[in-house]
Amino acid sequence: MSTLAIEGMQWGDEGKGKIVDYYAAKADIVVRSQGGNNAGHSIQRNGVRFALRLLPSGILNPRVTNVIADGVVANPDALIQEIEGLREKGVTDFHLLISSRATVLMPYHIAMDAALENALGDQKIGTTKNGIGPCYEDRAARLSIRYGDLLHPDYLRQRLHLVVPIKNKELSAFGAEPFDEEALYQQLMEDAKKLGSIIVDTPSYLRKAYQAGKKILFEGAQGAMLCLNYGTFPYVTSSSPLATAIPNNTGLPLEAVNGVLGIVKAYTTRVGEGPFPSEIEGEAANKIRERGHEYGTVTKRPRRIGWLDIPQLRYVASISGIKHIALMLIDVLGVVDEIKILTKYTIDGKEIDYMPASLPEFEKVKGEFITLPSWKEDVSGCRKFEELPEACQNYVKTIEKLLGVSVNLISVSPEEQATIIRGDLFHD
Ligand code: IMP
Repeated sequence: MSTLAIEGMQWGDEGKGKIVDYYAAKADIVVRSQGGNNAGHSIQRNGVRFALRLLPSGILNPRVTNVIADGVVANPDALIQEIEGLREKGVTDFHLLISSRATVLMPYHIAMDAALENALGDQKIGTTKNGIGPCYEDRAARLSIRYGDLLHPDYLRQRLHLVVPIKNKELSAFGAEPFDEEALYQQLMEDAKKLGSIIVDTPSYLRKAYQAGKKILFEGAQGAMLCLNYGTFPYVTSSSPLATAIPNNTGLPLEAVNGVLGIVKAYTTRVGEGPFPSEIEGEAANKIRERGHEYGTVTKRPRRIGWLDIPQLRYVASISGIKHIALMLIDVLGVVDEIKILTKYTIDGKEIDYMPASLPEFEKVKGEFITLPSWKEDVSGCRKFEELPEACQNYVKTIEKLLGVSVNLISVSPEEQATIIRGDLFHD
């Protein structure tokens, strides 16, 4: 394969960062195609930790061109801070491009995110409060500022003159402070000085690179169940993390996504509200949470823990066309006495073979489970499948059978080298 998409198959936090980092080293180009600074992962290099939120993961490799593509909503302030953070840590040789069609996330989007969450009260989504939803709203309403506009000061001024009074009216309806048009313009012109040289027509750059056979990695952000269309609406983000959205978010043709690698944590986690048929209560959940450090990276909220949910994963595999997965954090399940897998969804005692779209129906879903023995030992030193304890091998084989996919990579600890590679999709 000369191009590969990485897709989180659960509710985010699957451990994509480690796999993206592994494949970024083999790529010529790494592309972020949706979301904004709601995403985040950290990379360790020579003992230094880099927290990336908007920058693609090839940024520490001077050989790689990193592209922030059309479907991204990028806060210029956050982007500049990330770039300056790299320079402060001595990383000066990097290649970054941002699409002229990418959307500028404005300060009023952040204010509106807070105002909306506040207005929703106990029905709130639990957003990351980075303005992501309101920014995508403006894009759909054709009111957004795009990165290409920063290169045309007169047009930018006209756009702000049109949009800012509308935003201020909306904000005042929530009792929030208005924004000053001129101050926003001046700030964007400052941003343009720093970012202007990297704003380009990325679809034509990517198309030429694809035609020349360059190796392109599409790194996913968030997870499939947070997809605006196919996730657990309304507890979702405002873009689509599915690999099927990549062509529309990058300007590449369909065939440019040669393969998709799904990233699956060996159990399930969720933050915030919403039905969760495989949820575990009590001691086993606590043990998994502690061993897997399952607390929100920013909020530190304890994540809800569940067993692997096969109908949920089968659903995502079917809508995304996933045949290969990386199984993450398998070592964590060594802490429990026995492991369950949710194999069927039922409503009123009858099996269902679809993912309920509406919350009231999803709330009625009950899970049927199978139970497998745990291995109760440390697997972090294993580098070959055959070195894993039999019960652990059996867990992997059971997943392959139930899902009809192959488990190509197995992560046995957070360490960079601690991955069992059974079949590589993206060759050197
Ligand atoms: P938003 O994307 O900030 O609007 O938040 C909407 C929902 O998506 C919230 O439940 C967030 O916690 C969740 N979310 C957004 N980005 C991520 C991510 O990268 N990992 C996990 N959850 C996320």
